[in-house]
Amino acid sequence: MKPQTSYRAISASVLALSAGNVLAATSGDFNVLTMNVAGLPAILNGNEVPGDKTTNTRTIGAKFAEYGYDIIHVQEDFNYHAYLYETDTHAYRTATSGGVPFGSGLNTLANYPWLDYERVKWDTCSDASGSDCLTPKGYTFMRLALDGSTAAGGSGSSSAFVDVYNLHTDAGTESADIAARAANIQQVADAIAARSAGNAVLVFGDTNSRYTRAGDGIRAFLAAGLTDPWVELVHAGSIPSAESICANPSTTPSCETVDKVFYRGSPLVSLQATAWAYESARFLQANGSILSDHNPIAVNFTWAAGASLRQSGFWGGPHGTWFSDVSALAAKPEPPRAATLTFRGGSRLDNVGLTLSDGTTAFAHGGTGGTASTLSLGAGEHWASAELCQGQKDGRTRNFYILATTSSGRTVAAGTRTADCATFAAPQGWGIVGFLGQGGDELDQLAFVYAPQ
Ligand SMILES: *[C@@H]1O[C@H](CO)[C@@H](O)[C@H](O)[C@H]1NC(C)=O
Ligand SMILES: *[C@@H]1O[C@H](CO)[C@@H](O)[C@H](O)[C@H]1NC(C)=O
Repeated sequence: MKPQTSYRAISASVLALSAGNVLAATSGDFNVLTMNVAGLPAILNGNEVPGDKTTNTRTIGAKFAEYGYDIIHVQEDFNYHAYLYETDTHAYRTATSGGVPFGSGLNTLANYPWLDYERVKWDTCSDASGSDCLTPKGYTFMRLALDGSTAAGGSGSSSAFVDVYNLHTDAGTESADIAARAANIQQVADAIAARSAGNAVLVFGDTNSRYTRAGDGIRAFLAAGLTDPWVELVHAGSIPSAESICANPSTTPSCETVDKVFYRGSPLVSLQATAWAYESARFLQANGSILSDHNPIAVNFTWAAGASLRQSGFWGGPHGTWFSDVSALAAKPEPPRAATLTFRGGSRLDNVGLTLSDGTTAFAHGGTGGTASTLSLGAGEHWASAELCQGQKDGRTRNFYILATTSSGRTVAAGTRTADCATFAAPQGWGIVGFLGQGGDELDQLAFVYAPQ
């Protein structure tokens, strides 16, 4: 579970450490667990789990702590939430959104920090069977830092993020339930297209879906470029055509359950699943009875920072429309280089842009306000580092200022400096070649894409 550091990062760290910064890892491994913790009030749903829900939930939290899974997604974490967190010890945990009927039952417990956390309610629910509209079920989103770095802290090294989605779709098998469930899954697939273009993605939770029930629409995640490691590792890459039902606790990994894990890597961060397991045997009461009516699932992964593209940390606030130059940069046959930098700013930062030296591409993000400042880079010169300053506008954080410095020490700036600034320097031998973040008329949140120069 220890992140490893590549030789390249170690050599960059000599510079980074001398500047007082912390070395960020460029590869490592982690595991995830998804578990529906059956936390509806016992009076509404006993979940056919013997024993008392308070005691059982305390036991589940203690097992989360004992086994130390790196990223845990829970569903139906409603009215016994306090007992789960009482015995768990993970460093990073989402605040509950409440019991029934206020909360979604979704929470994340992790060994890594994140940014941009958001809870999103389903657009569609169905009470055809069960009471799916009773609570505001939906999905959650976070951009989790696999190397432990979030915003600043990336000077002279890259940052490694994965976009992590938890979900609990509509239950039941009436046709209205199945239609609602397919809409829920498509809503997450659409969110992945909008927020996670160019990014590594993990989706894991209670999908209420089976591959043998086509109407569930679970293949929308495969269409979004994600892989189900149960299919990949347990079934050698082929989705079983015959339905199978798991016992609880399950005695075999080959049976299908509705709790599922999906993943994809990106040009910035590669991901590979290495092991898939039902963890049921670890989640039993002292006398052998189950703790939940769902078999929990654990998956092990390895990750590595991209060989051709990496990114910086983020500066600014989580507002605006997502943008990313990563997919365009990844499509280039030659390593991209910046040729011209153009920024627009006034009292704040309005727009950031650059052209690539191959003459085919101009990136620009933000609005049309402010005054333009431009710098043309010489042969052999690259964009080495960027300082960003953030501030508050209308009660929200956004970027007010950028200062770019090239490998020759030349600079170009736009906007107005604040007291809250961070410098993002490309790793040694790499340069800034593009952007990702969120914006609108201005640049709410910004990070930089690095390529070897
Ligand atoms: C285990 O303990 C629980 C709680 O006391 C009880 O409800 C359940 O029946 C027990 N299971 C077995 C297999 O004895
Ligand atoms: C998955 O990772 C955990 C934690 O590192 C490890 O204990 C376990 O052996 C791994 N499982 C497999 C099948 O490799």
